[in-house]
Amino acid sequence: MFSSFAGKHIVIGVTGSIAAFKVAGWVSALAKEEALVDVIMTAAAQKFVAPLTFASLSGRRVFDDMFAAEQEGTMSHIGLAREADCLLVAPATAQTIARLAHGLADDLLTTTILAAQVPVLVCPAMNVKMYEHPATVKNLKILKEYGYHVIEPDSGLMACGEEGLGRLPEWDQVSQFVLREILDKDLAGQSILVTAGPTREAYDPARYLSNRSSGKMGYAIAGAAFRRGAEVTLISGPTALEPPPGVTCIPVTTALQMYEAVMGNYQKASVIVKAAAVADFRCTEQHREKIKKDSSSLMMELEANPDILKELGTICEHERQLLVGFAAESSNIEQEGQKKLKNKNLDLIAVNDILSDASGFAVDTNQITLIDRNRTVILPHTSKLRTADLLWNHIVDHKLLKGN
Ligand code: PMT
Repeated sequence: MFSSFAGKHIVIGVTGSIAAFKVAGWVSALAKEEALVDVIMTAAAQKFVAPLTFASLSGRRVFDDMFAAEQEGTMSHIGLAREADCLLVAPATAQTIARLAHGLADDLLTTTILAAQVPVLVCPAMNVKMYEHPATVKNLKILKEYGYHVIEPDSGLMACGEEGLGRLPEWDQVSQFVLREILDKDLAGQSILVTAGPTREAYDPARYLSNRSSGKMGYAIAGAAFRRGAEVTLISGPTALEPPPGVTCIPVTTALQMYEAVMGNYQKASVIVKAAAVADFRCTEQHREKIKKDSSSLMMELEANPDILKELGTICEHERQLLVGFAAESSNIEQEGQKKLKNKNLDLIAVNDILSDASGFAVDTNQITLIDRNRTVILPHTSKLRTADLLWNHIVDHKLLKGN
């Protein structure tokens, strides 16, 4: 399986919090994805988790004592600070955050970070009152001013029994911020608008017309763009998915709401990707009461929704904005794609082959053909996550971004 972490060198600084045990799972995940993981533990961290746990999971020795390491002549803090792709402090206690904010170099972790020439990410985890204390707020502000990336903690019930901000986020969230730091930022400076998911057109308070879009394709495109350095806004119809970390999500339900949200946001975008499956029609009448089943048939009048993509094709400033459409087709993929590319005045269209059960709506994999004004490229059948990166590769490699 392809992993963006393969071959990357991540140094994780673990400090003294009950959340330290969660980071063992992160080390394990990174090692499985063939990253090289070095763990530095503070003395307090070792009261919560034994160094042997991290050593077993990473397959490497754990750095836990500055002077022991220096006696071996390895100058470990300088080596780790130089060789790593990034340093991640997780969980970061109020104490360690304060030490970092004030430039203390009183153990191996703080010394390594002070010497770091690579991106530093900090995941605060502590009691909510400690997190909200003005001292911690001020210290985190200082870390941001130093250029460290502070990942906001989650909110919820804590080990101490209190509820609020201060929980260590899950790895699927944190990993996206780490990837953004270690991957090529070939979409840096781009402001990207993505639409995803289905729309729902209600006809009574209980029922609606919709389609099988799960949002997976659009969410993957938005997440990949964030990892590659872009600012991303995702306009999403109703899905069961969590918005990708770092992405601004605008939830909508109907095609008309999606239309309003797109029209309110498209101007600031340099790339617009319309992966949503928008309902072409809505019910002319929305019943206030649930429709009773008192006859054997039901007549429903439908009216056309605006074709958002087509309208964008006419108003989009093509000299500064790249307009990317999607299409779901079961035959004549290339001809149908070419037709939509021209009719909707697009720069690029991604045509899904929906004949296969393993492509198109709802599934985790996809098979798309990319058609721009100069070429047609058939992408391999692969995961939607990988397809999203291949789509961005195509855009970057063929210099389709405006201003190139
Ligand atoms: O969400 P998943 O389960 O992961 O599935 C992904 C997907 C199959 C939904 C996605 O990859 C996809 O193909 N989306 C577009 C499907 C579609 O609605 O195709 P279409 O041929 O009806 O529309 C063509 C384009 O016009 C699309 O970019 C669509 O967003 C846009 N459109 C359509 C109708 C409308 N009223 N307004 C629009 O903007």
